Amino acid sequence: MKYEKVLVTGGAGFIGSHTVDTLIEKNYSVYVVDNLDQQVHGIERNLPTYFNKKANFTFCDVSNTEVLRDVIEDVDAIIHLAARVGVAQSMYDIKKYMDANTGATASLLNLLVNEKNSIKKLVVASSMSIYGEGKYYCEKCAEDRYPALRSTERLERKIWEHLCPDCNSPLKPLPTDENKPQMPSSIYAMSKRHQEEMCLLIGKTYGIPTVALRYLNVYGPRQSLSNPYTGVCAIFAQRILNQKPPFMFEDGKQLRDFIHVSDVAKANVLALESSLANYQSINIGTGRPTSILKIAELLNDMFNSSLVPYISGEYRTGDVRHCYGDITKARNLLHFEPSMNLEKGMPDLVNWSKLNKDHAQDLFEKAYNELKSRGLT
Ligand code: UD1
Repeated sequence: MKYEKVLVTGGAGFIGSHTVDTLIEKNYSVYVVDNLDQQVHGIERNLPTYFNKKANFTFCDVSNTEVLRDVIEDVDAIIHLAARVGVAQSMYDIKKYMDANTGATASLLNLLVNEKNSIKKLVVASSMSIYGEGKYYCEKCAEDRYPALRSTERLERKIWEHLCPDCNSPLKPLPTDENKPQMPSSIYAMSKRHQEEMCLLIGKTYGIPTVALRYLNVYGPRQSLSNPYTGVCAIFAQRILNQKPPFMFEDGKQLRDFIHVSDVAKANVLALESSLANYQSINIGTGRPTSILKIAELLNDMFNSSLVPYISGEYRTGDVRHCYGDITKARNLLHFEPSMNLEKGMPDLVNWSKLNKDHAQDLFEKAYNELKSRGLT
């Protein structure tokens, strides 16, 4: 089914702006609401220069019912991406995260349920963070394992890997599928779970076809270079641009699934268009694990930098050891296939960071000290 007018909440942001571009390439009329949050857009809170001029922009927070009501009247589908992102920060700015993610989504759903509108599809951004730890396998017991977060006592002893609770042998990470029990380990993750569950529940109750996409670790151009709570690729890029070595927590061997933002934008539009995916939660990743150390090395190479990545042996409270996606469901229901690998996709981030060097403010140490003072590293 094709919709004509699509609202993208958070459409001036990293994933949102790429989604807007993809929709416009496909001739949709695109409406955007965005509050141009200072942590992402800087103190001036200007509309970014990369924002697509063909989109209709409204400066507005999703929780601003008065303004949002009028925008929603004009559209027939919504891609809801507006959210506060930052796992560690969510552990001390609890209300801000709950208001921006859980609360604002509740406001949006209130409007859909109580006001006249013709919304026929809702796509909501969820996150791999709702899994907590990824899925593992014990070769000795020949069974899948779903460990909880590692204990402080083990982390203090720098025992990074998970051990089987039954036989104590090291667990092997497996691709995490959508049926893995959810164990959110941060306020951010909880708020993402709320967003996903609320949208699916209201969607089912009122017959609004809804899809929740659980993004893995997204990287690429336009990821904020001054937000110290953003993803690791942008943080390392901003460090290297400021002649500082990437700072690695643990031993750098933790695994993640890095997906290029253009593939995420493509998945958003596939979810909008495909009815097979209705009322489903779907992982959007590459299915390939990469270590954090490998990311630091790749970025160093691409920036021609000789900085030696710093392996700190410290840990961040709430961090998972390994998580990468099983993307079978995305392949089957959305016919989604990632088109970028890191070798192809990372130069985009590097080139963009070089062009936007002036914005690459290294606030890592400030954020790190903040976490440290709160006992979160
Ligand atoms: C988390 C969320 C994810 C969210 C993302 C955006 C979880 C499990 N996942 O991912 O849903 O989209 O944040 O912020 O909560 N690291 C360093 N040095 C740094 C920064 C990070 O070593 O300067 C390490 C972290 O310790 C972690 C890995 O890099 O092991 C990835 O960190 P990050 O990019 O923050 O993302 P996640 O925590 O995986």
